[in-house]
Amino acid sequence: MRIEGSNIFLTGASSGIGAALAVELTRRGARVAAVSRRASAGVAVSIQADLAIPEERARAVGAALAALDRIDILINNAGVGVYAPSWKTPMDDMRHMFEVNLFGAVDLTQRLAPSMVARGSGLVVNVASIASKVTLPWFTLYSASKAALEAFTRGLRMELASTGVGAMLVCPGYVKTNFQNAVLGGRPPEKLVSGKRFASTAGAVALAVADGIERDARTVMTPALGWALVAAARLAPGVVDGRLRAMLESIGDE
Ligand SMILES: NC(=O)c1ccc[n+]([C@@H]2O[C@H](COP(=O)([O-])OP(=O)(O)OC[C@H]3O[C@@H](n4cnc5c(N)ncnc54)[C@H](OP(=O)(O)O)[C@@H]3O)[C@@H](O)[C@H]2O)c1
Repeated sequence: MRIEGSNIFLTGASSGIGAALAVELTRRGARVAAVSRRASAGVAVSIQADLAIPEERARAVGAALAALDRIDILINNAGVGVYAPSWKTPMDDMRHMFEVNLFGAVDLTQRLAPSMVARGSGLVVNVASIASKVTLPWFTLYSASKAALEAFTRGLRMELASTGVGAMLVCPGYVKTNFQNAVLGGRPPEKLVSGKRFASTAGAVALAVADGIERDARTVMTPALGWALVAAARLAPGVVDGRLRAMLESIGDE
């Protein structure tokens, strides 16, 4: 899908991956309508809205269409996590996380995909995580939200296959952003924090996503080395689960 000359609805561009993506997409000639609670810098239209609230999502779509007339590409990038055992995570935290990570993405797709189908062209990009493919036990319910987002993306791609509208999945690994601090609660395992030097940057993810859009990729795994973990988890699930459990135990008896 061509980025130059396209109108893009991008969520979560006030920070991290979304902010870097807004810069890269604008540099490649797109007009970006960016949506998040805080304002987004350097975009054609900055819309402040809480994507956890259905009425706010409707308002954001209305504002983007009023400013740009049509949306060619929807990028569901906004996301939030919670570091807590699934069996004692407050249900309100889980609902909030699923509202942003999953229901918001589906809702925005339902609001914007019909006009793409009518034009016979468009793309929905969903930013999931490597956690959608390999469940991270310090992030069980976050992994569940991203696994559901992946299933939605795969199904949507098949549903729309004959319409000219595509769906692309993005699976970042560990990226240096404010994500770990913006969680609804808890803290990551020490080994994850100390491994931060191996993390990729928002800029690298933005480049991979923009390149993926332009070559009509099905899935963008970034860094690509993430596929090795996915393969290992498929071939030797007990071994990988054991390693992940050991990392979880480094959190202590919280
Ligand atoms: N960082 C990582 O290691 C990593 C790895 C894999 C996947 N991801 C995924 O990548 C995406 C971007 O994360 P990031 O690392 O760039 O994190 P980030 O720096 O915390 O950015 C998250 C973005 O989502 C927006 N957002 C969160 N809740 C929102 C809400 N209720 N309404 C509107 N916007 C909301 C935030 O904007 P406001 O706060 O202004 O609302 C912010 O712009 C997320 O979907 C995340 O799950 C991140």
